[in-house]
Amino acid sequence: MAEIRIRNTEERIKGEENVRAFLESQEVLYEHWDPSKLSESLQNKFVLSDEEKAEILATFDSEIRDLADRRGYKTWDIIALSDATPNLEELLKKFENVHTHTEDEVRAITAGRGIFIIKGTDDVGYFDVELEAGDVISVPEHKPHFFTLMENRQIVAVRLFIETEGWIAHPFADPAFAK
Ligand SMILES: [Fe+2]
Repeated sequence: MAEIRIRNTEERIKGEENVRAFLESQEVLYEHWDPSKLSESLQNKFVLSDEEKAEILATFDSEIRDLADRRGYKTWDIIALSDATPNLEELLKKFENVHTHTEDEVRAITAGRGIFIIKGTDDVGYFDVELEAGDVISVPEHKPHFFTLMENRQIVAVRLFIETEGWIAHPFADPAFAK
């Protein structure tokens, strides 16, 4: 289950209801899928063949189509990151800059962990959303954020898009943000 860390106060928010209520107050969609639907081998595999990616998409097909129907996503795919990913360091450096998109950024974690760092309302400031398998998040369009891995440095997620170009990152220069 996702956990929140408010960066300014180090306050942590735990428990599904509290997390959901906080994210709702920040206009971030939070839902949950059953990660145990995935075969055990794929719950712990971070280098994936095309067939394995297709198996993950097939396993969560009804969840994906339900989300897509409700929110207008047209295409989806799988992203897998781990130390086996070529140029992982470069990729992470690229990811770890605050930016915005013209459409929302949706990720459904199917294995591993990851963090979204999001600019909240003025009273909250930046907060981390620590995600694990089963967590589904959507960061609204134009909301400054970035994504990075957690200590285990491995994740598999479903990405959903309205238009693939909507995912282009627009840098958001924010002197108030401290890493
Ligand atoms: Fe993004």
